[in-house]
Amino acid sequence: MKTKVKNSILAVALACFALSGCAKKVDIEAPATLKSALESKFYIGTALNQSQFTGQDTAGIRIIKEQFSAVVPENCMKSEVIHPEENRYDFTQADQFVAFGEANNLFITGHCLIWHSQTPPWFFVDATGKDVSKEVLIERMKNHITTIVSRYKGKIKGWDVVNEAIMDDGSYRESKFYTIIGEEFIPLAFQFAHEADPDVELYYNDYSMTFEGKRSGVVALVKSLQEKGLRIDAVGMQGHIGMDYPEIDEFEKSLLAYAALGVNVMITELDLTVLPHPGGHVGADVAQTAEYKQEMNPYADGLPADVDAAWTARFNDFFKLFFKHQDKITRVTLWGVSDGDSWRNNWPVPGRTDYALLFDRNHQPKPIVNLIINEATKK
Ligand code: XIL
Repeated sequence: MKTKVKNSILAVALACFALSGCAKKVDIEAPATLKSALESKFYIGTALNQSQFTGQDTAGIRIIKEQFSAVVPENCMKSEVIHPEENRYDFTQADQFVAFGEANNLFITGHCLIWHSQTPPWFFVDATGKDVSKEVLIERMKNHITTIVSRYKGKIKGWDVVNEAIMDDGSYRESKFYTIIGEEFIPLAFQFAHEADPDVELYYNDYSMTFEGKRSGVVALVKSLQEKGLRIDAVGMQGHIGMDYPEIDEFEKSLLAYAALGVNVMITELDLTVLPHPGGHVGADVAQTAEYKQEMNPYADGLPADVDAAWTARFNDFFKLFFKHQDKITRVTLWGVSDGDSWRNNWPVPGRTDYALLFDRNHQPKPIVNLIINEATKK
């Protein structure tokens, strides 16, 4: 009897010890998140929309706080929002975005200073509607860049200075910046940004960065900035990818070509569409759109399991590539939080149902989230 009691006391004591040991372990090891798993590799970022940085999308905000370490504004820092008229800046949304990033200790990137799209028409014309001179446009560009970069000095850590200036064949895009100023508009933009905040990182950002022409065009551009002694910290490869483009090998080739220039590589604007693309169009030229047709929206009622599995496998392959080159990559940023947020639902065809991001429409993590975490934390 005595020994029995003794034994059961021992058993209870051992159980308590085991339990407290267990409880301690749980205390120390919080469940892994994207942010914690990727901490030693690269920033994992997301684009924020207005309802997120103003506090309305509470489910989205919970994910951002738990899972992401970096943010970029989806639209609120584009010229048409932040600088709607020559003598009027509107910093309302941009200030809210930056305050959100700071309050949550997130690495903040600004997007974007000079881009042909979402730039208000006043930027390029005089009072009579005629194109302004080269000198006037340079002055406007300088005012725009200096005002915005100075305002967020020390808060924004990196800027997409120029977005999408090179075409798929490597030639310069015939934007108003190019046709009025010439190639010089790019080095000037980098110079103005650096003068406004000498500590801020400066990036060139573009889509379809795996095309051979664009690859060599961007390499030449970065080299020319470096030869002029200008600061450029990274090349941003927009990751608006599809199920059959680009080829991963080509993506890797470009990543290596950019890294070989001595700059970092960032995977910006990552999303993977499952939807058909009209006319074989790939890339992310916002001006290339097509009309809605029922047959272009095949998964409005849900994603079939085989398509879902193929999507997961392809996303996983891209992340494996990012892990392979983690020494060259400083940030991977998703273009939105949950599927419902994605611009892919409305571009290039409006009103579709896409499944392009890491969290579903109910804000639940998709299986890819755990695959990324497991791959990142495997011993
Ligand atoms: C997109 C936004 O996601 C949309 O909400 C907006 O209507 C158009 O622009 N390349 C870029 C991003 O650099 O700024 C674009 O964002 C997507 C393509």
